[in-house]
Amino acid sequence: MKDAGWIAAAEFVRHPSMVGSAFPASARMVRRMLAPLDWSNIEVLVEYGPGSGRFTFEMLKRMRPDAQLIAIETSQAFAAMLREQCNDPRLVVVEGSARDVRSYIRAEARGRADCILTGLPFSTLGDAEADIIMHETALALKPTGVLAAYQMRTAICRLIDRNFAYVQRDFEWCNIPPCHLYWAASPLKGPKTGERFDPARNGPERGS
Ligand SMILES: C[S@@+](CC[C@H](N)C(=O)[O-])C[C@H]1O[C@@H](n2cnc3c(N)ncnc32)[C@H](O)[C@@H]1O
Repeated sequence: MKDAGWIAAAEFVRHPSMVGSAFPASARMVRRMLAPLDWSNIEVLVEYGPGSGRFTFEMLKRMRPDAQLIAIETSQAFAAMLREQCNDPRLVVVEGSARDVRSYIRAEARGRADCILTGLPFSTLGDAEADIIMHETALALKPTGVLAAYQMRTAICRLIDRNFAYVQRDFEWCNIPPCHLYWAASPLKGPKTGERFDPARNGPERGS
């Protein structure tokens, strides 16, 4: 099995606009991105583009024993590496595109997602593809679901504003490259951008 760093560099060289960065997420950025999420109420979690799995393994540590993580990855090399490195039964690695998130959730889990985490490079996906993926994401979430996103650029903002009512933003310098962090709530409820994401009020649905 090849080293994770080598695979990440090779995938970046092969598909720079899809992979976005040759460097895996920093431990500090992973901690900050995951900290506001209400792990005790997350049953169905989806990750777009797990890459080398920096977020995947940390999310598995925080997840309930009965929760499920569906990781959707276009790269065959990343998907194969994750399957080989992790035998946690809560993780399902799907080789495919985030645009088909709803059919993957239907196949693997009950109902809709409590949380979707994405590091997809929305600034280089192409406008049409980015629009479709963000709208499918809003449709795939429960009304109380949360989108958590880390991004090098701010192209995702207009997509979040169009599909979510609330968004909280932050910035992490300690990552290569530094990243914008977003937590968006109330999918498909119309834009009220600028209001704070409050996990107690907007957090994942309880008991469903
Ligand atoms: C910025 S990288 C993720 C890095 C990862 N979090 C890490 O720390 O290693 C973006 C990932 O999204 C994947 N990707 C790009 N377009 C995708 C799509 N439409 N659906 C699912 N995955 C996609 C790429 O193959 C890449 O692994």
